[in-house]
Amino acid sequence: MDPPTKIEDPRADANGDNNHVSKKPKLSFISEPEIRQEFAHHKPGIARINNGSFGSCPASIIASQKRWQLRFLQQPDDFFFNHLQRQILHSRTIIKDLINADHVDEVSIVDNATTAAAIVLQNVGWAFADGRFQKGDAVVMLHCAFQAVKKSIEAYVTRAGGSVIVVHLPFPVNSNEEIIAEFRKGLARGKANGKKVRLAIIDHITSMPCVVIPARELVKICREEGVERVFVDAAHAIGSIHVDVKEIGADFYVSNLHKWFFCPPSVAFLYCRKSPLSPDLHHPVVSHEYGNGLAIESAWIGTRDYSSQLVVPDVVEFINRFEGGLEGIQKRNHDAVVEMGTMLAKAWGTNLGSPPEMCPSMVMIGLPSRLGVLSDDDALKLRTHLRDHFGLEVPIHFQMTRDGEIRAADGDGCITGYVRISHQVYNTLDDYVRLRDAINQLLSDGAVCKML
Ligand SMILES: Cc1ncc(COP(=O)(O)O)c(C=O)c1O
Repeated sequence: MDPPTKIEDPRADANGDNNHVSKKPKLSFISEPEIRQEFAHHKPGIARINNGSFGSCPASIIASQKRWQLRFLQQPDDFFFNHLQRQILHSRTIIKDLINADHVDEVSIVDNATTAAAIVLQNVGWAFADGRFQKGDAVVMLHCAFQAVKKSIEAYVTRAGGSVIVVHLPFPVNSNEEIIAEFRKGLARGKANGKKVRLAIIDHITSMPCVVIPARELVKICREEGVERVFVDAAHAIGSIHVDVKEIGADFYVSNLHKWFFCPPSVAFLYCRKSPLSPDLHHPVVSHEYGNGLAIESAWIGTRDYSSQLVVPDVVEFINRFEGGLEGIQKRNHDAVVEMGTMLAKAWGTNLGSPPEMCPSMVMIGLPSRLGVLSDDDALKLRTHLRDHFGLEVPIHFQMTRDGEIRAADGDGCITGYVRISHQVYNTLDDYVRLRDAINQLLSDGAVCKML
């Protein structure tokens, strides 16, 4: 078990006195001008409605990060020997409470979801190499799993002789039941011919198209069907939807803290459920702590900047300046993004990609078919055009029709292009009005993606 945590604050004076932190009077809720101030470093004139991709970090947290960086640079030896590990443990303890884990040693801090996927999949690769898994045993994943995760499967599982079962989810989607039915079919394929499903990878919020997946229900099905391990890729979850790792019940659960939790890039937590059968996970970057448990290994992977891991206590303080704390932020962002998505769908005569209850702080909205988003290339062209000509940061998704047939952009009502909008505390109505008007402008100019 890790030693007890002593909380430090880099704002402490030369005598190390940081008692003033606990004596601070309780702050009243953050005001609109204060929110503007916190995000004043965002480039002016840009409608940033893509918090989902890279997140955002308020000025007070950037300042906190700089203080930690300075603490290291002022006296590296002292910082390394006396402070760094204690502070990382403090951040892990906060995260443990936030996600309802049982033990702090179930919580590792890593760089990002990509690293977490490598940790889990590397372990699967070793099991094939050691002969514990047999050639052809399967890993199950969703067809819309994040590209980095797919590549990790290719690198660690396919290469080692594992097979991959891809579960195709419908989109647009109307209910959890549609997802659950497809997932059950995928598991059945994985188990055909007596093969074992060694790992299921389930997104909690898919990236593109964006949908909240009924992760808890899918994990339960995995348990019933004898899937050996379950990894939930919840890169978008913390700060966007409620996270309770015990309720979800997966073996591994990762969420980025730099997407919706206001941390600077890059930092994520990886929860690994403690059980007698817990696998022997290791960080892919091996350093002095190899063999001392994943959380300790991850807390020192060589000399680097660890400051993004140390700001977690200050982030919590920042979040608590908002009414209702994290839950309050999540609810307001969700309500606002659904309202904005509905406004856009109405303006364009289209529809949302999923019902509101399947949206986090992001929503997919169909684009008018006359725009002719008929390939991934078209989607990228439109995204680039919106950035370059309208100052809009927003991702576009190409969705193949269910029958696989793409008709010409003749306004037949077949939607193959979707825009994914995000809402974070800094967004305003103007951001979405700009998107609405930009698309309407392109339509009235008779523009189609091929021409852009
Ligand atoms: C579902 C999902 N998984 C993994 C990732 C990778 O996150 P990162 O680039 O922070 O490693 C993302 C990034 O958007 C994602 O959406």
